[in-house]
Amino acid sequence: MASPRGQWSGKLGFILAAAGSAVGLGNLWKFPYITYENHGGGFVLVYIAAVALVGLPIMIAEIVLGRRGGLNPVGTFRVLAQGRPGGRLWQAVGFLGVAAGFIILSYYSVVAGWTLRYIAMAITGELGRLAADPHTLATFFGGYVGDGGAQVLGHALFMAATMGAVVFGVKGGIERVATVLMPLLFLILIGLTVYAATTDGFGEAMRFLFTPDFGALSTRSILEALGQAFFSLSLGMGAMLTYGSYMRKDDSIPVSALQVSVLDTLVGLLACVIMFSIIFTYRMDVSASAGILFTTLPTVFYQMPGGGILAAGFYILVAFAALTSTISLLEVVSSYAIDELRWTRRQATLTMGGGIFAFGVLNALSLGANAKLSTLNVFGEGKDGMFSTLDFLSANWLLPVGGLLIAVFAGWIMARRETWDEFRQGHEGGEALFTGWQVLIRFAAPLAVGAIIFSIVFLGMEYQ
Ligand code: PHE
Repeated sequence: MASPRGQWSGKLGFILAAAGSAVGLGNLWKFPYITYENHGGGFVLVYIAAVALVGLPIMIAEIVLGRRGGLNPVGTFRVLAQGRPGGRLWQAVGFLGVAAGFIILSYYSVVAGWTLRYIAMAITGELGRLAADPHTLATFFGGYVGDGGAQVLGHALFMAATMGAVVFGVKGGIERVATVLMPLLFLILIGLTVYAATTDGFGEAMRFLFTPDFGALSTRSILEALGQAFFSLSLGMGAMLTYGSYMRKDDSIPVSALQVSVLDTLVGLLACVIMFSIIFTYRMDVSASAGILFTTLPTVFYQMPGGGILAAGFYILVAFAALTSTISLLEVVSSYAIDELRWTRRQATLTMGGGIFAFGVLNALSLGANAKLSTLNVFGEGKDGMFSTLDFLSANWLLPVGGLLIAVFAGWIMARRETWDEFRQGHEGGEALFTGWQVLIRFAAPLAVGAIIFSIVFLGMEYQ
């Protein structure tokens, strides 16, 4: 018996929710610093190519599968693989996705919790006092992440907000939050970009980002661009598949996927424009690359007129972006419990959210608070602590492997007539487009993702 299943209220509902999932810490934190490490321009072009040739086709594949199966990742693979090569085994791809959602959320929410503390400190003025001296702020940050109580508190607050949205369902919770937060996010982003355009470093930032220097590119940069495209577009674990299962049949899949990919890429690029303009204006040292967001940037904000407002606006932006992403991560896990275990949405959200919170406490304590958790090491050098271990596991293994299997399933296992039937609904007359997608999903995407996995296994590369 089919239980009533949620649905987006329309085209915009899907776009905002899916863009909310895609736009997150991956765009605002990871993308600027790996772009910096890879010397700008050339890397930006390669990233855009990775989004267009691999990310976009896989996003289309996830939505096609999700809307066709009409269930969570496990159920969707169960239904669609029936009578096909591999049969029930394909459910494992769904399980991999649900597990990835659980794991990623358990540490993502800890970083997201930091933004709450920074917003509070920007409002009270404490951040301004700390940021007056870069050294003081770095010391504060080290102490803060090592403070177990503070870490668990931030994580708890963020998980509570995430559960508070998911519990109200697809339309009443997820879509409603995205409809309010995403436009605000774009407003803040545009405001900060306009501000950045008035700074002295703007010209240099634009040159750095948009003048390709292919000499500065390595094979590694190319593969890194692919890995980043995956994480940033929320691909490889069924987040887009799950959101696709709530999509209306009269909505165009290729057009929606294109819009989400373009928005996501635009936000990453604007984040770069904002950060590099400011950093180049004040000639900051960006060597502590991973700390740009929480140590370098505040110092610069407070050298500028209106620094307190800038800082508060910026961390609110990051918190909004992170929240719409954590919502999508929890929704993957909850939808599994709702469809497969027959739990009510309330039960599923609270139990799974509670479980992820409890598991995440280990991550919260693994940044210095607990010696054992902070030094635990499975993947070798530079991957100390449970937090880094899980991030490494997800970004390097779960998402690429999941993405590869999704591409193989959509391109080779599903009957062409079936994917076409789903593709064309809401997008009449798209034969040529469909054929183009088929080529990319059957050949380009598996080859490129296979190359990532090959390079990790045999060349020992990392995609963080
Ligand atoms: N895309 C999100 C970001 O860039 C992270 C994410 C990955 C969300 C996978 C959902 C699924 O921050």
